[in-house]
Amino acid sequence: MNSSVRFIASVLVAGATTAALVTQAAATPKYTTSEVMKALHKGKDSIGKHISDGNGTKEEIKKLLEYYPSMLLNDPEKGDKAEWKKRVTALIAASKALDKGTPGALDQYKEAVNCKACHSAHKPDKEH
Ligand code: HEC
Repeated sequence: MNSSVRFIASVLVAGATTAALVTQAAATPKYTTSEVMKALHKGKDSIGKHISDGNGTKEEIKKLLEYYPSMLLNDPEKGDKAEWKKRVTALIAASKALDKGTPGALDQYKEAVNCKACHSAHKPDKEH
């Protein structure tokens, strides 16, 4: 007796189509540039000052990463857009380097956070 058994296994993989929710979140900044400035730079005892002085805590460095990326999504009211992006990208890169503890990160940050350079190029002329 020749029994040939053929299993026809048709495996139907239920297409668990993970509907990737293509959010447009990236286009919506969480903070205005003014809010970023107030949170990180304003005052003698600001987070930015602590960090530039080499006294920044881990939490303060995390704040940089929480706030600066919004600036990238805010168009500057004044000045060249590409220049703005370059400055803000440098700030974010330096903040990430600080977070990782990359050697030279502090110098990188101090250079990127140059208040005057960015303000003269991009801060609208209002009262100071
Ligand atoms: C990469 C660009 C950039 C850098 C770097 C920068 N700023 Fe600003 N800052 C701006 C812009 C743009 C505004 C105007 C925001 C607005 O009014 O919409 C501003 C506004 C401000 C304001 C006013 C905020 C308000 O609305 O009350 C303060 C205070 C300030 N900056 C402090 C600083 C200090 C201090 C530094 C350096 C440690 C600094 N900023 C570095 C771009 C920058």
